[in-house]
Amino acid sequence: MKTYRTGVVGTGFIGKVHIETVRRLNNVEVVALTDSFNAEASADLLNIPNYFSDYKEMIDTMNLDMVHICTPNNTHFEIAMYALEHNVNVICEKPMCTSIEDAKALVAKAKEKKLVAGINFHNRFYPMNNHLKNIIADGDLGDIFAITGNYMQDWLLYEKDYSWRLNSKESGNTRVIADIGSHWMDLAEYVTGQKIVAVNADFSTIHPTRKKPKKTVLAFSNERFSDDDYEDVLIDTEDNASVMFRFSGGAKGSAFFSQVIAGKSVAIDLTIGGYKKSAEWNSDAVNKLVIGNRDSYNEVLEKGISTVHANTIPLVAYPFGHAEGFPDAFKQSFKSIYASIGTPDAPHEHATFEDGLHEMILCEKIFESNQQQRWVTIPEESN
Ligand SMILES: NC(=O)c1ccc[n+]([C@@H]2O[C@H](COP(=O)([O-])OP(=O)(O)OC[C@H]3O[C@@H](n4cnc5c(N)ncnc54)[C@H](O)[C@@H]3O)[C@@H](O)[C@H]2O)c1
Repeated sequence: MKTYRTGVVGTGFIGKVHIETVRRLNNVEVVALTDSFNAEASADLLNIPNYFSDYKEMIDTMNLDMVHICTPNNTHFEIAMYALEHNVNVICEKPMCTSIEDAKALVAKAKEKKLVAGINFHNRFYPMNNHLKNIIADGDLGDIFAITGNYMQDWLLYEKDYSWRLNSKESGNTRVIADIGSHWMDLAEYVTGQKIVAVNADFSTIHPTRKKPKKTVLAFSNERFSDDDYEDVLIDTEDNASVMFRFSGGAKGSAFFSQVIAGKSVAIDLTIGGYKKSAEWNSDAVNKLVIGNRDSYNEVLEKGISTVHANTIPLVAYPFGHAEGFPDAFKQSFKSIYASIGTPDAPHEHATFEDGLHEMILCEKIFESNQQQRWVTIPEESN
């Protein structure tokens, strides 16, 4: 078995998760990391032999098979393009980048180089979501007419909560949509097989001005400083977004996305309505799926090799009753992406740069819809 040489760029919150979970694959060695801040300390903490402050130096010298991009959104394009140009496969965090033009250029470059270019939409890889996809495809719920839900968080509730994500220069035009709405939309489309074809959005920002710490803070940090250590900054991204959707198969639905709902640390809900049954998956109980019946008891399915759809069995790593969560979904996402190296066009379950481009178009059209306060159609080429 070949062992792939991997380098990770960005070792904040999610970079560390990438390193821990990709190391659980038997054919990957994380040989280097890059971080523009404290790379040596991260390498020491994570026991990685080589560290850099500049990703170009890492890519030029480390003979890598794969680069994982785990930096703020506005840096994804240049890092991904540099890796692809130097014949290195890429796993990029969502959102893929910050403009449709950049996303199109990355899709073209990955195709030209015949490299694997994956986006880490890991929610696809909870076994019960894959099961849901398969039973919908089998017609168990009947034709789908409703796709609804939400993704709520609370880590930006207070005026003193701060992150690079709040600033459109680093986040892109949207924040809540690009950061968490993108996960929900990818999951909704993946499980139903229906693409979003029109959107109508309404945004709100509860803190038009926030207190930005003068010192660097990590994402999701609860660190607090004295009042003198903050400066007032104007916020140009949304805290809340309500979006109505029309889907390609005729389904309709809506979702509420927010980073300021107290008590909702990570609350994802996806409810699907079909003519025979409904289904609901919720991030509070990722190993369960609720099937709703009109004329009998509702069913609560639990993840297990004997309970999931035959196509889902490869995603079940542990026996019945043993929970599989966030890091396990990452591992499965990476397993799928690494398995595509050398055959990027073969069938697979993971999100690709094409899916990343589609999400960029959705983000931009939702932004436009909110600005113009009207329905906006998603261009057909995106679907
Ligand atoms: N899939 C998921 O569930 C998930 C969850 C969280 C974050 N993300 C995505 O991961 C990315 C990173 O988010 P995060 O929460 O880890 O942010 P973070 O702020 O915790 O970490 C970012 C890291 O990147 C480093 N960095 C910044 N610019 C750099 C550059 N040019 N070169 C090298 N290092 C650089 C920073 O020093 C920091 O260590 C974002 O795109 C975010 O949307 C995805």
